[in-house]
Amino acid sequence: MLSKRFSLSSSRGNDALPLVRESLLLALFLLSSTVVVASETNQFLGAQSCASSSCHGGADTKSNQNLIWSQHDPHSKSFATLITARSERIAESLNITNAAKSSRCTVCHAPFATVPAELAATILDPAEGVSCESCHGMAKTWLRSHTRKDFAHADKVASGMRELRNLSDRANACVACHQNVDADLLTAGHPELIFELDGQSVSEHKHWQEQTNWSGAQAWFIGQLVAAREINFDAAKTQNPKQQERAAALNWLLSQTFEPLGPNLPAFRKFIFSSKTINYFESWNAIAKEAAEVKWTAKETRDCLVRLAQTSKDFRDAKLAQPVQARRAERLVLALDRLLLATKWKNQKASAELDNLFKLAQSLPDFDPAQFATKLDDFAQLISADTQPASH
Ligand code: HEC
Ligand code: HEC
Ligand code: HEC
Repeated sequence: MLSKRFSLSSSRGNDALPLVRESLLLALFLLSSTVVVASETNQFLGAQSCASSSCHGGADTKSNQNLIWSQHDPHSKSFATLITARSERIAESLNITNAAKSSRCTVCHAPFATVPAELAATILDPAEGVSCESCHGMAKTWLRSHTRKDFAHADKVASGMRELRNLSDRANACVACHQNVDADLLTAGHPELIFELDGQSVSEHKHWQEQTNWSGAQAWFIGQLVAAREINFDAAKTQNPKQQERAAALNWLLSQTFEPLGPNLPAFRKFIFSSKTINYFESWNAIAKEAAEVKWTAKETRDCLVRLAQTSKDFRDAKLAQPVQARRAERLVLALDRLLLATKWKNQKASAELDNLFKLAQSLPDFDPAQFATKLDDFAQLISADTQPASH
């Protein structure tokens, strides 16, 4: 698991910039308000509306979502983070007097702070942090109806609840706060963000059951596509060299998955064989949408793992700048981690070798591509020798 090995974001240096985030966050607010029953305008109600004991405030697994969120999910603590000494220091170097009141921080840490009055049905408390409706959408138009027995998932979405089962839609909900941060925030000491849907959904402490055909590898892939779209968009907009390095690294990683995944994804094939002027933003977005619709099999997971483990020669490419190599390694180790886990192989040796790869990828300035390539070969050998049957 990501958390077991190390948190890349907290140990890494600076970079990045603003972005689609504004529009995505706006979409977060407005999406549900646009799909409503004609006369009724949607509004935020606050977590209290969801938290009664007969609804989502119970103790059993069917109704304990509020309990899980308030006790185990970092999102309910995200406002509190803004009043820590660390936030104070970040704010100080940005000339922000109060992080808990600045929209530069609350936009992600306390979305209720910036809800326009007409979208609030009651006085919303920013201290709720990233609350139920920050992900599920404004609830006024569906609060009553969504409990009806005859209300299917599609009916709920039609009445304004945000679609989160579809992995591409879900990734879009998370990535708005989880990939790009303004460069000056990073310089001021904000942790660098790196979005990875599968592992981060687990460490969020899921308050839901996935569908029976769930694949962690598929969630990983779609998450990386959506992250790539965001980074490429930002890199093109800002021309920030560090962001360009990160974009190049993620584009590399995704293009390495073409062999196992391309055959099932027409948008992917079109991307690989299209002209030299690739619009990464549009391409990765189209592939993410398509990848959310396919049925992912154990074979794809295994083939993808084996293919990515065999990329050592790219780390021996002396023409490539060290920072790009380091960024490639950063994304690659996360990929290997999620894919190895998704195979459900109990390969202790491969897992130990992966721990070493994580350590080698941890420090950006100290990254040694040749050493990493050697260890990656060892890992690849352990994976290829594994004869355990692939299970889904
Ligand atoms: C409105 C912004 C927002 C949205 C939407 C959002 N998050 Fe977060 N998330 C945050 C903030 C802010 C934190 C930091 C919490 C803190 O202060 O420690 C966080 C923390 C986390 C953490 C713990 C830290 C880490 O990165 O490991 C995980 C895991 C996580 N979020 C997963 C998700 C997932 C999965 C989704 C989508 C289903 C999601 N988040 C949607 C803002 C958001
Ligand atoms: C783009 C969304 C976004 C913005 C804007 C943002 N943050 Fe964060 N912040 C996050 C996420 C997501 C995390 C969790 C990162 C992780 O743990 O991997 C986080 C983590 C942090 C942490 C570390 C928390 C911990 O427990 O390790 C601090 C401190 C912090 N943010 C403060 C701030 C301050 C102060 C501001 C405004 C100057 C700000 N943030 C603006 C998304 C954001
Ligand atoms: C960080 C984003 C996020 C936050 C915050 C959040 N949820 Fe969820 N929730 C999800 C995702 C993703 C799913 C899984 C997709 C789905 O079932 O729609 C989900 C699923 C659910 C489900 C369906 C459970 C199942 O197994 O079918 C319920 C009920 C729910 N959430 C209620 C809540 C409540 C109540 C809160 C606030 C106390 C909350 N959620 C906060 C993202 C979030």
